[in-house]
Amino acid sequence: MVAVTPERKLEDVMEKMPYGMYIVGSRALDGEPNGMIADWVMQVSFSPRLLAVAFENDAHTLENIRADGVFTLNILAQDAESMHLASRFAQPYYGKKVKGRAGTAMTEVHHKLEGIAYALTGSGGPVLDLAVAWLECFAEHFISAGDHTVVIGRVLDGRIEREAEVMTSTYSGWPYSG
Ligand SMILES: Cc1cc2nc3c(=O)[nH]c(=O)nc-3n(C[C@H](O)[C@H](O)[C@H](O)COP(=O)(O)O)c2cc1C
Repeated sequence: MVAVTPERKLEDVMEKMPYGMYIVGSRALDGEPNGMIADWVMQVSFSPRLLAVAFENDAHTLENIRADGVFTLNILAQDAESMHLASRFAQPYYGKKVKGRAGTAMTEVHHKLEGIAYALTGSGGPVLDLAVAWLECFAEHFISAGDHTVVIGRVLDGRIEREAEVMTSTYSGWPYSG
């Protein structure tokens, strides 16, 4: 019988997996746009072009996508300015999403796109001015996957805005796996 590797060791192995690091844009039914950092993103079909993103079950972004269907993928550059921008999106929209928060921090709402330069696609998804490239998708499938939900979206539009090395988890050094 094969010995089961202790959980802690599995975490170490899974932390070795490299990812991209993106800002996923969405909008609420009232029209307010939102953005969140996501590493767990991949193309899953050529024809039709499909993209999968795994979202924490309590992410506001997932709530927006369930309601509206539209989401954007902002591909960042590998530079200090983009790292600074990305740090703005690590907060959740709902303060209460962070475990252990109390008092006013629980009721806080973070309007993460306030003060950040962006435009909206034809379908209303936010595209950051600083993005190197972007894709616009429409959610077609929601697949429950443990503490995450995998959203498979059809790629409807996209553009390369400038040439630059793109952001990766290896460059950022911010782990999201394990
Ligand atoms: C480097 C990094 C990568 C992340 N990758 C993901 C991811 O792939 N999926 C996810 O659901 N959350 C991911 N997160 C966590 C979300 O960005 C975080 O929960 C965010 O606050 C959700 O925002 P929202 O509630 O406004 O949608 C990541 C966070 C960091 C710092």
